[in-house]
Amino acid sequence: MSSTQTNPIARSVASTQSEMTEIILPNDTNTLGNLLGGRLMHFIDLTGAMAAYRHSRTNVVTAAMDHIDFIRPVHLGDLLTLRSSVNRAFTTSMEVGVKVWAENTRTGSVVHVASAYLVFVATDDQGHRQQVPRLIPETPDEHRRYEDALRRREHREAESARRKEGKLATAAMEDAAAVRP
Ligand SMILES: CC(C)(COP(=O)(O)OP(=O)(O)OC[C@H]1O[C@@H](n2cnc3c(N)ncnc32)[C@H](O)[C@@H]1OP(=O)(O)O)[C@@H](O)C(=O)NCCC(=O)NCCS
Repeated sequence: MSSTQTNPIARSVASTQSEMTEIILPNDTNTLGNLLGGRLMHFIDLTGAMAAYRHSRTNVVTAAMDHIDFIRPVHLGDLLTLRSSVNRAFTTSMEVGVKVWAENTRTGSVVHVASAYLVFVATDDQGHRQQVPRLIPETPDEHRRYEDALRRREHREAESARRKEGKLATAAMEDAAAVRP
């Protein structure tokens, strides 16, 4: 990342807020008539990317879908509403939270069905990483999400380091076994 690619602007969480509504059709469902988990993840990815685009104003790629809770099934014919916003911006990456509700069109009841955290990385048209603007949390909820996003990043980094150490130890054991007569 070169210094010419820096983006000094700071943006509010509110300016990243995004929303998408979908009607659940037969093509989206399994044999029980419930929304497929993979289809829901696709909608979550798209809504998350909208918030990341609004914050970075660059191309973005999904680096991780970090955590997802499928809380309740979504049924054929339900209206699905997804809302996203950036929780925290780091150097070239942004953590985005997505929350999903399903509305029964007959009764009008609305239930929270899923929540997820994703990490997007900003890139230019050549795929080079770009620095993202700072994020300014304003409300108490935005401050809480901002702090929680840092904890999740630290946890992700610790997990990644642990996995790397595990792989190195396995490779060393395999090498040692290979040279034994
Ligand atoms: C995501 C990607 C750009 C990271 O590139 P990289 O060269 O490994 O970058 P680095 O390890 O230097 O990390 C760059 C940033 O991404 C973050 N990052 C990288 N991998 C991550 C992961 N698995 N989870 C969360 N954050 C991650 C780093 O924390 C860092 O953030 P920062 O700049 O804000 O500190 C690269 O792995 C990639 O292109 N992956 C494929 C993306 C893709 O195809 N997605 C699906 C379709 S959009």
